[in-house]
Amino acid sequence: MYLRRIIVVALAVLVLFSLTVSLAAAQDPDNGKALWEGEVWQCAQCHGTEAQGKFGRPLSNSTATEAEWIEQVRNPRRSMPAFSESQVSDEQILDMRAYVTSLPAPADDFRPEDPGTSENEGQNVFLQKRCVACHNPDTGPLDHFIEHNEEPTAAAVIAQLRTPKGAMPSYTEDQVSDAEATLIADFLAEQYALQGDASATTDAPASTDETPATLPTSGSDTPAAQTALWFVLIGLVVLGCGLVVQKLYQRTTPL
Ligand code: HEC
Ligand code: HEC
Repeated sequence: MYLRRIIVVALAVLVLFSLTVSLAAAQDPDNGKALWEGEVWQCAQCHGTEAQGKFGRPLSNSTATEAEWIEQVRNPRRSMPAFSESQVSDEQILDMRAYVTSLPAPADDFRPEDPGTSENEGQNVFLQKRCVACHNPDTGPLDHFIEHNEEPTAAAVIAQLRTPKGAMPSYTEDQVSDAEATLIADFLAEQYALQGDASATTDAPASTDETPATLPTSGSDTPAAQTALWFVLIGLVVLGCGLVVQKLYQRTTPL
């Protein structure tokens, strides 16, 4: 009977523990808010600061599942670019999902923001592909090239689209073809030449690129490491319970 009581207590401890574990693994909307407004700022550029929709659809009313969210970020449909795991982790995606789906539903008459058009063929592609969600509509990522003292080329733009540096998501050939990227590069090269002329007479105009100055770093606490830690903890508790039960069992059973 004593033994049975011990086993019941051990089981209760286990149940409590797994409860805490599942709570710890649940999504954290507060962290999601901090990410959405800070470290993972890119999503709000297209989905709106309140997830009310902007160039992309609203997300506050998204009924897509957790798995579908992760899939959309890694292998997006249509015009949304893809984010790698080092840019935004699965855990961060789910925390942001928990946050934005708690926000008020968007206006019924939501229409995506018009990115505008241009007479200049390359600039027009740049606008239509929604690069302007993150880049200045008139100068694009020009200041990056000026900074490196490097003339924009088709190769550089294509490289940035397929395997981007820093916080920029990637675009497939289906989304922005090499030919379209070349048109964008031509537009940037024209701007680069103009800026060069301008800086010969006056100081180069101040950078107006809207890309936030602080670029996110990859998530510090990876979910995998967290899960592993929990497993070790559970293991220790189970071991401890086992030892206690064994000790008491030895004590209650006569040799
Ligand atoms: C350059 C613009 C852009 C950026 C940046 C962007 N999205 Fe999107 N997103 C879109 C567009 C456009 C769609 C609609 C795709 C479609 O037509 O199905 C979309 C769709 C989605 C959907 C599908 C919603 C549903 O209910 O079907 C999710 C989820 C999503 N985005 C999450 C994110 C997250 C998270 C980020 C940041 C890591 C992000 N997006 C960044 C443009 C963007
Ligand atoms: C969600 C935000 C976002 C969108 C959308 C976006 N970019 Fe960027 N882009 C960035 C950021 C951030 C950087 C700076 C990357 C770095 O160097 O750290 C950047 C840099 C660049 C660079 C400079 C790379 C270099 O050599 O320094 C080019 C070229 C570029 N983007 C082109 C594009 C084009 C073309 C599109 C549209 C098809 C686009 N971007 C859409 C965020 C974005």
